[in-house]
Amino acid sequence: MTAPVTPPTGTREHPGARGPRAPLDAAAFRARFPVLREQVHLAGCSLGPRSADLDAALTCMLADMAAHGAPWQRFEERIAEARRLFAAFVGAREDQIAIVPDASTGAFQVASTMDWGARRRIVSTMAEFPSISHVWLAQRPEAEVGHVAADAGVDEYAASIDRTTGLVSVPLVDYRAGRRLPVEDIVAVARAAAPGCSSTPTRQVPADRSTCRPWTATSSSWAR
Ligand SMILES: Cc1ncc(COP(=O)(O)O)c(C=O)c1O
Repeated sequence: MTAPVTPPTGTREHPGARGPRAPLDAAAFRARFPVLREQVHLAGCSLGPRSADLDAALTCMLADMAAHGAPWQRFEERIAEARRLFAAFVGAREDQIAIVPDASTGAFQVASTMDWGARRRIVSTMAEFPSISHVWLAQRPEAEVGHVAADAGVDEYAASIDRTTGLVSVPLVDYRAGRRLPVEDIVAVARAAAPGCSSTPTRQVPADRSTCRPWTATSSSWAR
């Protein structure tokens, strides 16, 4: 048995869960990432700086494993809590949230539910993150994949989407240029040109502000 761990933030049951709070300003947000006091974090590719909340959660997980061996029940409780908090954060219902290892796996889960028989066209963009792009490309030959230019506007999406389109994939942010894409306008165009098609933006679009379904987000690669 090990002594209970007191994490630096939150509670032992829900590390990082701090309940209702005022919006953080930039300085307060940066303070959640202790490493940024010493270093400039430039490795944005799939590995963000660790937050104090992440460290606390990992410390608790190791303590649980040391004390209980295989504490699956506790793990399940943590996952349920993460789902509840994330649903509240993005304005979704808990049963709309699936927790998967990363956004790329989420994209694969989306692809695996699609029937490319009737609507075999996937419209993506050269601004798509490569690991997401490869999920779409792996659907060939059952699906065909078209790419609009990285800086394409809504009109170019409209020209590429037709009634054979089953999926439109749009990143909220171009990972190379840091430019935000007009996701909501593209979704509107997709819905008009291909009623019923899925549009899968990746990144932070609060579910209540978006008509996108499904939507994948990742927490491993960005400071948040
Ligand atoms: C814009 C964008 N989409 C998707 C991904 C892939 O996310 P994950 O590593 O969670 O699969 C990344 C990763 O950095 C990204 O920057």
